[in-house]
Amino acid sequence: MQAFEEKINELENELEQLGNQLADNYFQTVKVLARLTELSEKFYDGSHSRFVSEKSALIAEDLGMTEEEIMEIRISGLLHDIGKLSFPETCLYKFSNEMSEKEYSKYVQHPILGMRLIEPYKLFSNISEIILQHHEKLDGSGFPRQLTKEQIHPAAKIITVVDYFHNQIYRRQRIRGENHPGAIQFSSTSTFLDSTRERYNAALNYLTKKSNVLYDSKIVDSFIKIIETERKNLGLRSVMRIAVNALEPGMMFAEDYFTSYGLLMAAKGETITREALPQLRRFVEAEELPQKVLIIK
Ligand SMILES: [Fe+2]
Ligand SMILES: [Fe+2]
Repeated sequence: MQAFEEKINELENELEQLGNQLADNYFQTVKVLARLTELSEKFYDGSHSRFVSEKSALIAEDLGMTEEEIMEIRISGLLHDIGKLSFPETCLYKFSNEMSEKEYSKYVQHPILGMRLIEPYKLFSNISEIILQHHEKLDGSGFPRQLTKEQIHPAAKIITVVDYFHNQIYRRQRIRGENHPGAIQFSSTSTFLDSTRERYNAALNYLTKKSNVLYDSKIVDSFIKIIETERKNLGLRSVMRIAVNALEPGMMFAEDYFTSYGLLMAAKGETITREALPQLRRFVEAEELPQKVLIIK
């Protein structure tokens, strides 16, 4: 009898290890795919996908979604634009209403391309559906399938709100301006800041106006509450340069940091987590990250 129980315990341990290994493999795959996605983000200030992922997860939490749903949204946010990987630069820096007909027809394909890239991974089946739907709108004016209201996955409804906001505020206008005659050119830092504030207000006004038309009103309300609270708290915080060894969870990067081979390892606006600390220290040892980094505390 004792031998039998021992065998059961042994099997249980093995299963647990196997489960941990699977979870490890899953998150490693997410990391690789997320880094690939970031290769198409050079026309943003900070990381578009990390912003969308972080804020979408906060909304999901605020709306009382389950742990599993929040994790799914987090991953979908990281990977939602993976279908843009093969895009030419013109499709990356232009807004959709500035694209030529040919560019636009390629652009509307990116949710489908993204879904196809992710689909082979069986564990990602919900995520590939969310990626496919992240440009759908409540009134059926979205793409690629013109879904309406209840037909749209709740996670896709969240991502589309955060995605709109980030595109309006953090797309690099000046770089966009180099080849685009209609783009805004800034003459001084203060004009740039005023313009950012204007764009911030305009983006929130647009979301409010299109609440219940294009976007789910509960999601818009939750997002505005989250982003406004963050903005107010940010005003009370200070920017400082601090040694990586002295970083604490909850601090926020105030600059983008890239590795020597061009990968974004820390994005402006990203909150530092306890899990990230050992990796950041390793980056300093490998001289991929400066000894001191600019943070908001
Ligand atoms: Fe997209
Ligand atoms: Fe996006």
